[in-house]
Amino acid sequence: MIAIRANGLRVQKNKHVILNSIDLNIAKGRLVGLIGPSGSGKTTLMRSIVGVQQYDGKLQVLGQEAGSSKLRIKIGYVSQSPALYGDISVRENLKYFATVLRANDRQVDTVISSVELDKFEDAIVDTLSGGQRARVNLAVALLGGPDLLVLDEPTVGLDPILRNNLWKLFHKLASDGKTLIISSHVMDEADRCDDVVLLRDGEILWNDTRKKLLGHTDTESVGDAFVAIISEAKNV
Ligand SMILES: Nc1ncnc2c1ncn2[C@@H]1O[C@H](COP(=O)(O)OP(=O)(O)OP(=O)(O)O)[C@@H](O)[C@H]1O
Ligand SMILES: [Mg+2]
Repeated sequence: MIAIRANGLRVQKNKHVILNSIDLNIAKGRLVGLIGPSGSGKTTLMRSIVGVQQYDGKLQVLGQEAGSSKLRIKIGYVSQSPALYGDISVRENLKYFATVLRANDRQVDTVISSVELDKFEDAIVDTLSGGQRARVNLAVALLGGPDLLVLDEPTVGLDPILRNNLWKLFHKLASDGKTLIISSHVMDEADRCDDVVLLRDGEILWNDTRKKLLGHTDTESVGDAFVAIISEAKNV
C-alpha cells in the first residue's frame, strides 16, 4: 500500500528551482529517512506533503491530492521550528491544540503516555529540556491519531541519549502501523530507518530500502553510501 506518490513534483520560487520534477514512492507503515544536506529541499518536500506548499505536478498522499482537507486529521506534522506556548503546562498546550484539531480530552491522555511524558504533564513548557520539548511536539502531532507523521529534523540539537530514546519511540510508532517520514541532515540517522530518500539540490538520488542502498553501493553506512551515490551520479 502506497502512502505517498509524487510524479514530476516541482517547486520553484522566483527563478530558483527547489524541487526539480521529482518522482517518489513511499509505502505505508515504513520508517523513512529523508536525508540531504542543508538547502537540498527537505523542508520544501515535507511542506508539499502536508499541504502547505504550492507545487506543480502530481502529489498523492494517503490516496488524496496533497492539501485536501480530508487529510488534515490524517497527517501529524512537526515543523522545523515548532511553536508551543512556553508559559503554560504540557497538558494545557495539548488541550489547546486538541481543541484546534477537534480531538477530545481522552486523546490528550493517550498522546501524553505514548510519548512517555506522564511525569511532566504539569510542567511549564519553558522549564523542559530539549528532549522533553521534542516529545511534546511529537505529542501534538499525534493528536487526532494520524496515519502519517511528518517530522522535520526532530532530533536536531539533542544529545545522543535523548536522540536514541526518540528513535526508539519512532520505531514503536512505526510498529503500531504509522508511516513516519523523518528528515535529517545527519546521515547516520538514516541508519535507523527502513527506507531512505536521499535528496540533493532538489533531486532524488535514492528512494528505496536502506538495505538495498548499502548493497547497491557496497557500503556499510548511509553516509558512505551517499558519497558513493554522488560520485556515481558524477561519472554518468
Ligand atoms: N521562501 C523561499 N523563497 C526562496 N527560496 C527558498 C524559500 N524557502 C526555501 N528556499 C530555498 O530552497 C532551497 C531548499 O530549502 P529547504 O528549506 O527545503 O531545504 P532543507 O533541505 O530543509 O534545508 P535545512 O537542512 O537547512 O533545513 C534552499 O536553497 C532555500 O534557500
Ligand atoms: Mg529544512
